[in-house]
Amino acid sequence: MYAIRNKQHPYLCCGSIALTVWLMLAGLVSIATAQQANAPASGLTGNWAVRVENADGTFRTTYLNLKQEGSRITGYIRSTQFYFTITEGTGGPEGFTLEGTIGNGPNARRVRYEGKLVGDELHLTTRRRPEDKPIELVARRAPAGEGAPPARIPPPARHPVPDNGLAKTPPMGWNSWNKFAGRIDDATVRQIADAMASNGMREAGYVYINIDDTWEAGRDKQGNILTNKKFPDMKALADYVHGKGLKLGIYSSPGPNTCAGYEGSYGYEEQDARTYAAWGIDYLKYDWCGARMIYTDEEMPAIYQKMGDALRATGRPIVYSLCQYGRLDVWKWGAEVGGNLWRTTGDIRDAWDSMARIGFGQDGREQWAKPGHWNDPDMLEIGNGGMSETEYRTHMSLWAMLAAPLLAGNDLRSMSPATLAILTNREVIAVDQDKDGHQGRRVWKSGDQEIWTRPLSGGAVAVAIFNRAKEPAKVTCRWADVGISGKTRVRDLWEHKDLEWPGPEYSAEIPGHGVVMLRLAP
Ligand code: GLA
Repeated sequence: MYAIRNKQHPYLCCGSIALTVWLMLAGLVSIATAQQANAPASGLTGNWAVRVENADGTFRTTYLNLKQEGSRITGYIRSTQFYFTITEGTGGPEGFTLEGTIGNGPNARRVRYEGKLVGDELHLTTRRRPEDKPIELVARRAPAGEGAPPARIPPPARHPVPDNGLAKTPPMGWNSWNKFAGRIDDATVRQIADAMASNGMREAGYVYINIDDTWEAGRDKQGNILTNKKFPDMKALADYVHGKGLKLGIYSSPGPNTCAGYEGSYGYEEQDARTYAAWGIDYLKYDWCGARMIYTDEEMPAIYQKMGDALRATGRPIVYSLCQYGRLDVWKWGAEVGGNLWRTTGDIRDAWDSMARIGFGQDGREQWAKPGHWNDPDMLEIGNGGMSETEYRTHMSLWAMLAAPLLAGNDLRSMSPATLAILTNREVIAVDQDKDGHQGRRVWKSGDQEIWTRPLSGGAVAVAIFNRAKEPAKVTCRWADVGISGKTRVRDLWEHKDLEWPGPEYSAEIPGHGVVMLRLAP
């Protein structure tokens, strides 16, 4: 009934995105039969395909387009959104190695395959990193040209996309990727919605239930995007989520493939937007990955504008989330292309170093955040187990100071009371959701201690005193040094208590990786 197209192998990626995509490989179960040969077999020369079946019934294919001359092998490898030239290829049918570089700059990563010809199959071994377990793959001959990148569709002329009036405060909700990656399905989404609607999160402001990558199958003959067997009926799922008083979000890419190698929206932008609207989708995360095979970074605004226009044309209110890892200073043009939020960084990991690097690295972008348009330092990792409770409180505080979207990324069905308490701290959420929408900034730093402030409506100010060191530290905040004058009310937002006016300065003993978060109000 439907054709599965371009289900490529997801593991060749750059930088931190690579890591998440790489994890998908853990689910590799079987190596399926490739297209049978119809190219003449002459040594290694030819188009070779590795076809891997995902647990959801879709396929991913890696193409190795090789030319062997003596012991020199040239050509390219296309694996999901990656397309790279073989820069070092040597050997022959009895044994060869292929190497190339994916990405560039600090994200560049070397990829290496070893292999040999066995009958009419290439038996290949590759590794994510040299120390990782080898992954064994079998490639078979594929027709010439199969798997080549699709023809380029020129980007549209630029024009401003009118504001959709949504996300007047930073979006709050949940996203499937951080915890579930490729293991997300209809039943889990329903249970997450049940949890959010019954554990106090909905009342605290969380509303979006966002399905990330791996829901897609291919397209039908009319080009309509299809869901894979993990999501049998997206419209019914949207109805269910709406019935809980929540909203449903989805994910796609402007490229032919998503980051995990699933079907992207390339060439089908308007049609996909109409499908989302018909299903009852309320939020789209649009992830660049596969588009880099077709477009340059400079073309990003026009390409994001295309989906901004398409969403608008549906007439349905759909929050538009740009995900291109902060390239090309997206904060300067994200709003013009219809974006309600834009990722400012690569992928977060559930580790202090990753969270701190991303969160504290947002200083300086505050001028670009405003109601309807937000910097997005990525989804929350609170409750996923890689950080301490203290560190998760810092994570929540920092995101609130940054007016960041609060998209929980943990399993809401089984979290601890401590995790729930962090995610639903109403006083911290009120800072995040302050209606004036000013993003906070660093106003003081000494070694590993930092003070950030965020102006709030009604003349109040949020003050967060962070200790980035492992050891506890005593930090003194002189109000005058952080731009606060006169006596105010002081409230501790984690202790949930008003403090006595401490005079011109306030000192606190802050645990390693901890925070004191205050609200000062006239
Ligand atoms: C990229 C994004 C992640 C996630 C994955 C899904 O890495 O940055 O947030 O959406 O793709 O494949």
